[in-house]
Amino acid sequence: MAERLLVPQTSNRKEIYDSLIPQIQALTEHESDLTANLANISAALKEAFNFFWVGFYLKKESQLVLGPFQGPIACTRINFNRGVCGYCYTTKQVVIVPDVEAFPGHIACSSASKSEIVLPAFDKNGEVFLVLDVDSDILDDFSEIDSIGLSEIMRIVEGLI
Ligand code: SME
Repeated sequence: MAERLLVPQTSNRKEIYDSLIPQIQALTEHESDLTANLANISAALKEAFNFFWVGFYLKKESQLVLGPFQGPIACTRINFNRGVCGYCYTTKQVVIVPDVEAFPGHIACSSASKSEIVLPAFDKNGEVFLVLDVDSDILDDFSEIDSIGLSEIMRIVEGLI
């Protein structure tokens, strides 16, 4: 396993994703423990982009439960019909929220969070088994570039279960 992450010194997010994705593949491919891999993926995303909050919520029975993350403490359980995470879980779609205050039912774990992107990962039956939630303290901070880059990382996550 690489001992440190190489992050291009650029503000171009596509370049950072292009560098990060093979590193995340290499970082996780020889480790079988899902928690360990999710922990390193959240740390890699935090280090590469310095997002305000980045982490996973895993489907456990009838809720989404907080998993490995980087950032301030967060709510531990989210019902499927609540928040951006619940919306992503039920619609099975990538959700970009440019202004969290304009999203009905948004769960504010921190008042510093201004925009957010949430992505689903699917098991072999096509069911969502976790979501990745990334929060920014800047309004309208996420674009199609993030959707594409983070979706590639979710395809790596799907290979881990
Ligand atoms: N804002 C999320 C809740 C999780 S925290 O942001 C870490 C939501 O509305 O689902």
